[in-house]
Amino acid sequence: MPKVLVSDPIDQAGLDILSQVAQVDVKTGLSNEELVQIIPEYDALMIRSGTRVTQEIIEAGNQLKIIGRAGVGVDNVDVPAATRKGIVVVNSPEGNTIAAAEHALAMMLALSRYIPDANHSVKNGKWDRKSYVGAEVYKKTLGIVGLGKIGSHVAAAAKALGMKLIAYDPFISLERADHLGCRLVDMDLLFRESDYITLHIPKTSETANLINAEALAKMKPTVRIINCARGGIIDEAALAEALKEGRIGGAALDVYENEPLEADSPLRSLGKEAILTPHLGASTAEAQINVAIDVAEQIRDVLLGLPARSAVNIPGLYPDALEKLRPYLQLAENLGNLVGQLAGGRVELLTVRLQGELADNNSQPIVVAALKGLLSQALRERVNYVNASIEAKERGIRIIETRDGSIRDYTGSLHLEAKGALGDHSVTGALLGDGEIRITDIDEFPINVPPTHHMLFTRHRDMPGIIGKIGSLLGSFNVNIASMQVGRKIVRGDAVMVLSLDDPLPEGILAEIMKVPGIRDAYTVML
Ligand code: NAD
Ligand code: MLT
Repeated sequence: MPKVLVSDPIDQAGLDILSQVAQVDVKTGLSNEELVQIIPEYDALMIRSGTRVTQEIIEAGNQLKIIGRAGVGVDNVDVPAATRKGIVVVNSPEGNTIAAAEHALAMMLALSRYIPDANHSVKNGKWDRKSYVGAEVYKKTLGIVGLGKIGSHVAAAAKALGMKLIAYDPFISLERADHLGCRLVDMDLLFRESDYITLHIPKTSETANLINAEALAKMKPTVRIINCARGGIIDEAALAEALKEGRIGGAALDVYENEPLEADSPLRSLGKEAILTPHLGASTAEAQINVAIDVAEQIRDVLLGLPARSAVNIPGLYPDALEKLRPYLQLAENLGNLVGQLAGGRVELLTVRLQGELADNNSQPIVVAALKGLLSQALRERVNYVNASIEAKERGIRIIETRDGSIRDYTGSLHLEAKGALGDHSVTGALLGDGEIRITDIDEFPINVPPTHHMLFTRHRDMPGIIGKIGSLLGSFNVNIASMQVGRKIVRGDAVMVLSLDDPLPEGILAEIMKVPGIRDAYTVML
């Protein structure tokens, strides 16, 4: 049974899912050294933001197949190190979107009405109404930096509050911004025009210290800034100074350059114009259940040999698309494996054609699955969905992708051609209505066989008696035939024979098969 290490507190709903397929050990508060020591026994690691998954831990994780981050940000995981080692890193890109957006909105309103300070003063026996005259958000301009999942939800709610919306996000379309009721502007204009600025961007080299002294100097003296995204996007010293000197109206922060926030941070000595929460954006019961379930399901799937739906280091797919593509990924892997063996290895060119309904889908995961199959003979379990493209590139395999939605022999089918040591070979496969996989064509000879673990292929001349001879030969070596198919284009012309076998072919049998009159070629294939 696989073993999963859970090294941060995770909702029980996630642990229950993991327990269906694995032994689950919850060990929180471990040091880097302790993790390095115990990680070799584990197949999966599940974390929140508390565990820093360093290169050292990843390198020690020889069994590790997946790291699951119950949350959005994977900035506490060394993702390149994981990718190099073929470890899938998954997160929960949407599980806490609503929680984080609502926290930002709560911060905006609380900041406008000084709610934390007013609450504190009443609890301390005072009845001070003069100090807490706030501002309305109605008809004010909200500048949203980052119009992704959280930024979009904030936009919809702020619109309902009657705010004017402007946004800066160089990666989204005008149509999308329009649809959200936001005017896309440049950063400078957003700084100058906004009454409120809310940040919903990742921390990258471009966004680090985006809100610095220079940016603060461009803003209205009444502006209120909210950061529920990532620490380090705001220069905290510059912000504290601007607030102290009354050069800006207020700031509400949930995230900090260093967490926990240092005891002597200048932010801690600010008054009612600042609200500080300890990274609570995702801290709702609902979000914690959502992220735990989302990530635990992906760990379970990967341990069962299925792809993950939100892998950050392999092509991501929405659950619906993944559900639809999942059987095609298996088909692509089988066909890649088959065509690689028929081509005799050293493949230099792989052509992948998506046909029928498959042609409407994202081709990237299909190509990756085909490459995984193609390379599996050489790399065995070392190749996976994460490193297949890199391994193929390193081997100089060129890839051509094409689509033909008009080929409708089956609902969806996939055609692969490989140029390798044994020349050009092609295979086609399809999904039947019940989701079963069929190989429907080999080197343009029509057949109809399910892929099985042990297979025998022959190229031969279509002539009486040849099938019987191969059958008796296999029988004499005690090999049981599960199914047999012959494909030919013309009677007594060239033909292929495909046999699904219950047993592996013993050594020496191929040489015997090659001696049968009419046989031109024979290959064994293991899928
Ligand atoms: P997202 O990927 O859906 O959206 C991010 C948006 O930022 C994208 O639209 C992207 O185009 C935009 N962007 C990227 N670089 C930019 C740049 N240089 N300038 C302007 N826009 C840029 O992410 P999301 O789920 O909306 O999360 C947003 C942020 O919130 C992330 O940093 C995430 O880690 C953080 N987050 C924090 C909490 C919390 O507990 N406080 C919870 C969840 C998410
Ligand atoms: C996230 O990235 O999901 C948030 O910052 C919340 C968390 O760290 O749990």
